[in-house]
Amino acid sequence: MGKQLIAGNWKMFMRRDTAIELASGIAGTAWKQDSADVAVFPPFVYLMDVIRAVAGSPVTVGAQDMYCEDEGAFTGEVSPAMLRDIGCTWVIIGHSERRALFGEKDETVNEKINAALGAGLSPILCLGETLKQREGNEMEQVVTTQLKGGLKGLGQDQLRGFTIAYEPVWAIGTGKTATPEQADDAHAILRGVLESEFMVKNEHGVRILYGGSVKPENAEIILAQPNVDGALVGGASLKADSFSDIISAARKPGEVS
Ligand code: PGA
Repeated sequence: MGKQLIAGNWKMFMRRDTAIELASGIAGTAWKQDSADVAVFPPFVYLMDVIRAVAGSPVTVGAQDMYCEDEGAFTGEVSPAMLRDIGCTWVIIGHSERRALFGEKDETVNEKINAALGAGLSPILCLGETLKQREGNEMEQVVTTQLKGGLKGLGQDQLRGFTIAYEPVWAIGTGKTATPEQADDAHAILRGVLESEFMVKNEHGVRILYGGSVKPENAEIILAQPNVDGALVGGASLKADSFSDIISAARKPGEVS
């Protein structure tokens, strides 16, 4: 596997001045840490400012969601073509907050993944089980269903270099992190499904990120797990210092844990 990806999901935080300041701070340190790929996901309204702030640096930018049509009478929505147009590389799809608060189902997630790929964006498919599901021993079934549903109909070629984020809902914003073993186990399950259902193997370079209370204190041990290919970071991505510390904790390409 090549470089790990460290992605910062800013959620609905920041103002214009703080967004530019944070982006510039991250761009500054990303220069020195080219051992990991780095991406940031500001709110829609600050995308353009952040894209300008990181221009010329290795930092790439993406949106936290999008609609699945290129254009039309869809009041309030933003299309994949628009995101490409302003210079976005990535888009997060199916984050657990979208699923829980805005009713997104696997079918919608699948439509959005298709639309993102069609527009030349790199989607990050988010999935993960709730606490109740984990305690009911349903983790494997839940993440398998979400993965199969989200990627339905996609072939090996479309999945080359694809990105998935395993984010157990009980670990998001709670301060509770999955143990490195729990993260690695879930990632191994996802790899198994990718192979059995989509004929996707290691050579296809699919990265599986872990997300859920990743912080400078726990990043190194999580990122050292063999099946973990990066991190999707919420809270700790809102400060340049802590996000930079997580970037430096990334496993270097070729480094075996
Ligand atoms: P957190 O969020 O790091 O604040 O737990 C992660 C995410 O929701 O992507």
